[in-house]
Amino acid sequence: MKVLILGSGAREHALSYKFSLSEDIKKVYLLPGNELVKRFEDNEKIEVVDNISLKDFEKIKNFVKENKIDLTFVGPEAPLVEGIVDEFQKENLNILGPDKFAAQLEGSKAFAKNFMKRCGIPTADFYTFKSYEEAKSFLENYFDKGLFGNEKVEDFKDIYKKGFIVIKASGLASGKGVLVTNDKKEALDFLKKIMVDKIFGKSGEEVVIEKCLDGTECSFFALCDGENFVSFPTARDYKRAYDEDEGPNTGGMGGYSPNPIVDKDLKEKIIEKIIKPTLKGLKEEGHPYKGVIYLGLMITKDKEPYVLEYNVRFGDPECQILVRRVKDDFGKLFKQALNGNLPEKIEEDPRKAFCIVLASEGYPFAPCEIDLKALEGKLKSLNEKDLKDIKIFFANKKGRILSVTSLGDTFKEARDKAYKVMEKIALENTFYRKDIGKDVLEK
Ligand code: AMP
Ligand code: GLY
Repeated sequence: MKVLILGSGAREHALSYKFSLSEDIKKVYLLPGNELVKRFEDNEKIEVVDNISLKDFEKIKNFVKENKIDLTFVGPEAPLVEGIVDEFQKENLNILGPDKFAAQLEGSKAFAKNFMKRCGIPTADFYTFKSYEEAKSFLENYFDKGLFGNEKVEDFKDIYKKGFIVIKASGLASGKGVLVTNDKKEALDFLKKIMVDKIFGKSGEEVVIEKCLDGTECSFFALCDGENFVSFPTARDYKRAYDEDEGPNTGGMGGYSPNPIVDKDLKEKIIEKIIKPTLKGLKEEGHPYKGVIYLGLMITKDKEPYVLEYNVRFGDPECQILVRRVKDDFGKLFKQALNGNLPEKIEEDPRKAFCIVLASEGYPFAPCEIDLKALEGKLKSLNEKDLKDIKIFFANKKGRILSVTSLGDTFKEARDKAYKVMEKIALENTFYRKDIGKDVLEK
């Protein structure tokens, strides 16, 4: 079996590694992959195809046909939102992922909110606007008169954070399209940037304004076959760039699995109240969901899960962490998802997994480029003992550079192993968070 993974980050490197462990898999192509994988990955099953753009669906399909690829899997959201699955399906090529309609769960927040409303899936109360004037007057009423539409702010249920409101550009905005605020000027400025200055382009043609949920955030990942699903091990990531959750939001700077917040009872609620109705709703609307679904959730103080957002892909770095703990053969599992016959559940490694991301200085705004020769020297300095239970997944020369992942019997053991390697390979002009998993050390 030959597999094609689309994407260029450490997430896609992690996927190609996991697929390569499958006995049935002869070759894993990584398109477009990245220079670091090409240079530092010595696994003979993994091959980088860097002469085709991720945007060129025609060329990708030709590559699949010419190389007789058995299964294609997409890492990032953009190709899914742009309809790559529909394009493949027209020619009967095997690809696992949601079609263009279902991918709107991530591609359009307005679509996702309305879908949840239709299906009775718990999420914050909201309004959507295509007109700047109407959205502006809604916000003015909220701040000046204490009204959310017709509802009085003082009547909000206590799951909401008093005084705060959330404004979201509906389309894709690389995680930058959301503002949580209790300040009128900040809210109106953000709205103007989205709808008048169009800083997110077309993604800001519609906005969602919603009530602000109070609680603890967590993520949940499942693999779906159109009707059924299996859940992946739980994980958490750290979004802020610097220690103690300071600094700008990033794609993610590290994390661990399992996530102790998601106990048996909460998992059951997420499945019954969110995953099952999501799959049922999409099937009824004629677009059964196939592929990975990733829920961004707020868990309120009464332990109820609410959806903040849907993503139609794996998280990065959560994927790097999860692949270390899933025991199932990915070749077999993903084929089962494609054919609609998933197993009852995924088998999890009982050990803990950790991930620490190395980024280049300036990330996320203006990252500098690192010296690959210097990195090569650092990597060569690692000995067999350092690398026990470690796997390093590579990304780019600038921005997020690589993810060090580890396994250990306890969180502390896994964390110590990962940090030991990171200390040895961190170069000049790079940084990493020193406090990943500080909160679970006792667990
Ligand atoms: P989203 O891209 O919709 O997940 O929003 C990005 C981040 O904004 C989330 O991870 C939350 O931290 C925050 N957020 C979004 N919606 C809400 C909400 N309704 N209440 C509280 N925080 C929110
Ligand atoms: N780690 C968060 C994301 O991939 O969106």
